[in-house]
Amino acid sequence: MTILLITHLLLIATLTGMSFANFMNVRFARGQTGDAAMALQGLRRLMGMFGDMIVAGVWVTGLSLVWMRVSEGGGDFNAAFHVKMAFVILLTACHFMGRRTGGQIARTGDYEAYLHRLELWLAGMWLAASIAIILAVLAFG
Ligand code: HEM
Repeated sequence: MTILLITHLLLIATLTGMSFANFMNVRFARGQTGDAAMALQGLRRLMGMFGDMIVAGVWVTGLSLVWMRVSEGGGDFNAAFHVKMAFVILLTACHFMGRRTGGQIARTGDYEAYLHRLELWLAGMWLAASIAIILAVLAFG
């Protein structure tokens, strides 16, 4: 249980930091052209692919923690936990919308059309992750 919780928290720390770093990337990328724009796009794509694995890992460790709590008779989750789960779903949706928008940029090369939308998804992901952390501490702390 302790190792699982540590893994859960490490994945969450990585996910939250990466969403903020990608947000900074997009802010910097706006107005860039040529090689600079392509390098920033490449970095975003790489972090997006790692993001897929990290989001999956957060779900696997989170659901495993729920399963362990329930099997130990602690399945009475409070309201803060349920609201946390709503933000986790929002975070996951923002991630996949961000990946989709990143794919549209890669296909069209049209940074102007899509970067502002990507910025929105990344800001949403970081905000949802931050609120989920606060709610998790309120639920279990
Ligand atoms: C993906 C679905 C998720 C599920 C099912 C889930 C479930 C859980 C459970 C059951 C615990 C309590 C572990 C214990 O028994 O001590 C926990 C802890 C925690 N979770 Fe999640 N979690 C999920 C995602 C997330 C996300 C996305 C975040 C934040 C971005 C997050 C942040 C935390 C934190 C900070 C704790 C530790 C709280 C404390 O001990 O004070 N979780 N999670």
